Amino acid sequence: MNQTDVKQLLEQMTQDEKIAQLMQLAGFFYEGAAQRGEITGPMEDLGIEEETIINSGSVLGASGAGEVRSIQEAHLKKNRLGIPLLMMADIIHGYKTIFPVPLGISCSWNLDLAEKSAEAAAKEAAVSGVHVTFAPMTDLVRDPRWGRVMESTGEDPFLNSEFAKAFVRGFQGDNLKEDLHRVAACVKHFAAYGASEGGRDYNSVDMSERQLREMYLPAYKAALDEGCEMVMTAFNIVDGIPATGNKRLMRDILRDEWGFDGVMISDWGAVKELIPHGTASNEKEAGKLAIEAGVDIEMMTACYANNLKELMEEGQLEESLVDEAVLRILTLKDKLGLFEKPHRGADVKLEEELVFSKEHRQLSRDLAAKSCVLLKNEGVLPLGKEQKVLLVGPFASSGDVLGPWSWKGPRDEAVTMEEGMKRKIGANNVSVAAGCGIEEAVTEEQWKEIELAVKGADVIVAALGERSEMSGEGGSRADIMLPLAQVEFVRKLKRFNKPVAVVLFNGRPLDLHGVTDQADALLEAWYPGTEAGDAVADLLFGEVNPSGKLTMSFPYAVGQVPVYYNRFNTGRPQKAPHIRERYVSQYLDIPNEPLFPFGFGLSYTSFFYSNLSLSGNVVRSDESIRATVTVTNQGEYAGEETVQLYIKDEVGEVVRPLKELKGFKKVFLKSGESQEITFKINETMLRYTHSDLGYRSDAGSFTVFIGTDSENGKTAAFELELTK
Ligand code: GLC
Repeated sequence: MNQTDVKQLLEQMTQDEKIAQLMQLAGFFYEGAAQRGEITGPMEDLGIEEETIINSGSVLGASGAGEVRSIQEAHLKKNRLGIPLLMMADIIHGYKTIFPVPLGISCSWNLDLAEKSAEAAAKEAAVSGVHVTFAPMTDLVRDPRWGRVMESTGEDPFLNSEFAKAFVRGFQGDNLKEDLHRVAACVKHFAAYGASEGGRDYNSVDMSERQLREMYLPAYKAALDEGCEMVMTAFNIVDGIPATGNKRLMRDILRDEWGFDGVMISDWGAVKELIPHGTASNEKEAGKLAIEAGVDIEMMTACYANNLKELMEEGQLEESLVDEAVLRILTLKDKLGLFEKPHRGADVKLEEELVFSKEHRQLSRDLAAKSCVLLKNEGVLPLGKEQKVLLVGPFASSGDVLGPWSWKGPRDEAVTMEEGMKRKIGANNVSVAAGCGIEEAVTEEQWKEIELAVKGADVIVAALGERSEMSGEGGSRADIMLPLAQVEFVRKLKRFNKPVAVVLFNGRPLDLHGVTDQADALLEAWYPGTEAGDAVADLLFGEVNPSGKLTMSFPYAVGQVPVYYNRFNTGRPQKAPHIRERYVSQYLDIPNEPLFPFGFGLSYTSFFYSNLSLSGNVVRSDESIRATVTVTNQGEYAGEETVQLYIKDEVGEVVRPLKELKGFKKVFLKSGESQEITFKINETMLRYTHSDLGYRSDAGSFTVFIGTDSENGKTAAFELELTK
């Protein structure tokens, strides 16, 4: 097939067939169940006929080579024109081999491993019959009360853009028609879902278009510039209009200004949700708004299926809008080679061979070790293999280490902390006593068990955190502390006067009151995925030196939220964090600074920055300068450092952030080794969205800041002269 064939196919389709092609139903509508009349519930709820299923265009959440092949075969037998189904699913951080949650992956600052994780996930999904994944999620986040921050890559537009591109490359490769072990990517949620008010899921989003363009849109655009095939709409409103029915956002910006002509799919039920949002009074109006906004596929509701025909008959809807939607869907099917190979990569034998392979699990372990962030270490880590360890806490033996959106990942095959530790130093060197639960206080009996066990231990490792259901979609929390039972538990552990190393398993930056002061060492593990226990043990015993850096700030307290590094100075900034004055921008009860800032992460060694120099002090339109700094490993362990480049625009036409990440480089240094790290600074890096929405730079003064995180580094000044 080619584009001409696709257009000819479209011409052969009846109106009913075209409208049904815009429908996406969940897998349980297929597998012959609906045809056998075994499906009653949702089909009746949706008010759709079996004809709609036979002519529908895509399936949500079906997988398994055998199952998907049988769905496709049954479908092709019934579909008059033999148009194959698209199989779409949420492969967010792995298919069966689960990688760290994306917020964890982003803390590795390792774009290559991120891409490889997406490639491995795509391979496992493709041989299991999946054609499209609903990833990457590139919503910029600043509010850890929101459960879906675990799915994001953090608070910075530049870094989110880099990871978006890496994930798209990994999922899609560079030839979807030929490479049957890749899947099409779908960037989401367009747009600004991460700015839901109060961190409450599905809540309103309201910001200027300038802010939207400056902070929230870049990463979606980066994914599309990398060739991402699809876009998914967000549940929230943008500037008063639900994204799914927002022509300004979808037609003017996404399709006309950015030139995106790929498939746009609504989020689950988001078309029909235009009714509770209050911009449509019924499903017919909702369908009209969404198709006019350019939404091609309606996921799991039937506003299109049940109303588009009538809208066209009444002259309320041009058939050309339906045609262009169908054409985009048929084009995607052609790009995936489905007309020639309707089963595409689905292969039962390869599925057995490739899914959950040792190679993929090793990759997951490597990435997990690089995704963890060492937040505190007062002489406790790395542990010696001769040490006796008491492992306690609700995550001591828990398989709940995959995190949300780990769909096909088997928890019972995930490596627990207990397994990882025992494998590392031998079962007789690790005693385990869970102690408290996630929210359940330690009982007298459990405490007696611990008192006994601690006698023979040199160090206590407390594996604490949130149940994975406490984050993810619909998982917003107003209080983001560790559950009090665990905070109390850590405090009691300190009575034993033994070193306590806390390992955290959680889906969001937490309010760590009562933990950071009690723990002698603190390792943020997020949800590390299938190889959790081994990856964390690799770090705790120093086989891998921690190198993760936070991509989302940890607030000092939830009252500080939203807190993020690229904030504005205000007209009354504090003179310095510790200087308390009344009439400045501050709190009476807590500092302005986060507990742990963006870019922060410790190592078992220490890196010293010196000799920041600029090759010149003036950047011109077509003349860049180079910033060079020397990084020295001053400690006894070899380690990897992520050198971060930030730039501050001292004066702008609109207020400019205190600093903005503009680059980063990873360097591996042996003990005592030094290396010069150089960044190029050019005019394009200094552009921003002006009040007239123009994206350009202004001549003037800038400060470059190169360091180990967003608060510690060396600075130098330079000017920008515009010669064009
Ligand atoms: C969910 C999520 C979206 C996901 C979709 C399909 O509601 O918002 O991220 O891809 O439904 O599962």
